[in-house]
Amino acid sequence: AKTKTPYELIGGEETLQKLVDAFYPKVYSDPRLAPLFQGDMELIKEKQRLFLTQFLGGPPLYSDRYGHPMMRARHLPFEITPSRAEAWLDCMRQAMDEIGLTGLIRDYFYERLKLTAYHMVNTDEPGS
Ligand code: HEM
Repeated sequence: AKTKTPYELIGGEETLQKLVDAFYPKVYSDPRLAPLFQGDMELIKEKQRLFLTQFLGGPPLYSDRYGHPMMRARHLPFEITPSRAEAWLDCMRQAMDEIGLTGLIRDYFYERLKLTAYHMVNTDEPGS
């Protein structure tokens, strides 16, 4: 039998849609993150769902539409400090809790997001 991708194991499009729907309202209302998120929430949800699809080994939906992900480069216009990376990850854990994403696949996914979030850091903490 063919080995399942993390994308399939997590529940595919349906799960990722629920996750972004739970995640972005938290991000937009988090005082640490809200100053950075001025754009259309529905558009960023859609881009993130497409990105996470390919991040988890599903079809390359983000690249097909927007080109090479280059996520660190795409985040350079925004001041991403270590505490903002923590805030992003806090919102993600809460969103995973809210949709009932549990078990090994959650732990695997979260650990990869954690690495990616710290990789996005491009600015020191103010006053440090
Ligand atoms: C876009 C912040 C981490 C994936 C953005 C935008 C901001 C942002 C401000 C632009 C929103 C807009 O266009 O309205 C942050 C902060 C992070 C973080 C503060 C903390 C570390 C991540 C991580 C991922 C990610 C870990 C992926 C796993 C994306 C994607 C986009 C995006 C796919 C859309 C890029 C595009 O315009 O095509 N992020 N981000 N971000 N972020 Fe993040």
